[in-house]
Amino acid sequence: MPPAAHAASPSLPLDAEGIHALAARSMFELFSSISQGMFLIDKSGRIVWVNDSYQRFLPALGLQSVDDFVGHMVEDAIPGTQMRRVLETGQPELIDLLTNRAGTFVVSRIPLRDDAGSIIGAIGIVFFEHPQTTLRPLISKFAQMQQDLDDARRELAARRSQQPHNGAGSGQRRAKYTFASFIGSSPAAAEVKRQARRAAQSSSPVLLLGETGTGKELLAHAIHAASSRAGGPFVSVNIAAIPETLLEAEFFGVAPGAYTGADRRGRDGKFKLADGGTLLLDEIGDMPVNLQAKLLRALQEGEIEPLGSNRLVPFDVRVLAATSRDLPEMVRAGRFREDLFYRLHVLPIRVPPLRERRSDLPALVEALCEELALRNGIAPPELLPDALALLAGQPWRGNIRELRNVLEQAAMRSDSQSLDAARLARVLREAGIVPAAAAPLAEHLPADPLAGDAHLLRSLPQQVAELERRAIAAALRAHGGNKLATARTLGISRAKLYERLENPDR
Ligand SMILES: Nc1ncnc2c1ncn2[C@@H]1O[C@H](COP(=O)(O)OP(=O)(O)O)[C@@H](O)[C@H]1O
Ligand SMILES: [Mg+2]
Repeated sequence: MPPAAHAASPSLPLDAEGIHALAARSMFELFSSISQGMFLIDKSGRIVWVNDSYQRFLPALGLQSVDDFVGHMVEDAIPGTQMRRVLETGQPELIDLLTNRAGTFVVSRIPLRDDAGSIIGAIGIVFFEHPQTTLRPLISKFAQMQQDLDDARRELAARRSQQPHNGAGSGQRRAKYTFASFIGSSPAAAEVKRQARRAAQSSSPVLLLGETGTGKELLAHAIHAASSRAGGPFVSVNIAAIPETLLEAEFFGVAPGAYTGADRRGRDGKFKLADGGTLLLDEIGDMPVNLQAKLLRALQEGEIEPLGSNRLVPFDVRVLAATSRDLPEMVRAGRFREDLFYRLHVLPIRVPPLRERRSDLPALVEALCEELALRNGIAPPELLPDALALLAGQPWRGNIRELRNVLEQAAMRSDSQSLDAARLARVLREAGIVPAAAAPLAEHLPADPLAGDAHLLRSLPQQVAELERRAIAAALRAHGGNKLATARTLGISRAKLYERLENPDR
């Protein structure tokens, strides 16, 4: 102890070393008290110490006692940890997100050095164990980026696996999917496939309308693959992803010499690249108005004018367009040209959202689980009945893309091959979604087989009131009595929910 500590009135130590030691100890104690837990590893990566508060994470990590933690290599005890990186680089990592089977955590990793400055270990700190509530905006951004990254990886893998069959360069311009890739046999799915098959026989423009993730792009590939242009290229351009200033060049190309520098040689536009094949104009609703006029002219004349040239070049392209926006509404609001709308609206196909074809869920889940198992080299996860029912109750605003993401997250974080409702509910919550109540898989409420239609032969207000009561009770159960979440799931105000609870028979 420094001598000052014995003085009658407490004061700072007088020597620099004493002050340093005091500051270090205070900071350590502060971190220890404000954090959710801390542990230390030595320079070999072995856990040598853990504080009391950290120990409540042990069960979620699948560990019985402190002895399964202390004395073990850090990677063996904490799946996905990056502590070793700190030992290797000597760089502290002040804020990071760690996701493993115990959940998502905000963590810090700080190297420990001896007097000579060499790394002798590292300290790991968990700051928040519920970042989804404390750091919700940051987490949803992270989840979104993760999802985009997964999509990009998948696309890359699909393209790579196509390369050996095709000549150089053509690998990217072939359709990836056929109608068989569109999973689903519900009436809604069968109808959309029927319409798309018919569209494949025609050469008119097709307009695919539907929420994000419903399979519009997949269907565009399939239409091309089943059309007489299947031997030609399939080219897709995502209008929402390209800066407005570059769109015109992207569409129509650039004539040689139009620009100085790297682009002096000129560049082909998507219309040229798709020549003899099919061009998908994805997210057409995001097209700037001035370009809409140029696109319309190109479609009417069958000719394009590359930037910086004054020559018109004919093209032979079948045009498909897709959007998740409400195009008729955009036309009414003057944000989408009516003449272009009608030019594209020759064969409109409305692709139904997942919640309108719940009976396809089991088949979709099976196909998606097999796909993710192949990609990650794991056994395909199996869903228990309560898990399927929970999935059937969700609104799926991101549709099949969102479904796949949830399945993948759940599978990657689980040790066991079977997934239950509790695990899926946790994944949904971590993605910032309040899980809706579980639902039957059919589109319609199942009729009670014993009662036949008798229960339907009563006054309608009576039946509606009964259905409301059942829906409210189910939602309350699913949310553990949380009224705000219940009201949100049911799409009613909290005031209305209270009113119903107080007077269930109205
Ligand atoms: N019916 C379906 N069966 C199997 N996979 C589907 C189906 N619909 C969509 N998918 C998959 O979901 C993801 C999103 O589909 P996509 O066609 O990109 O949707 P959109 O263009 O409507 O946003 C893709 O990976 C696609 O393969
Ligand atoms: Mg899309």
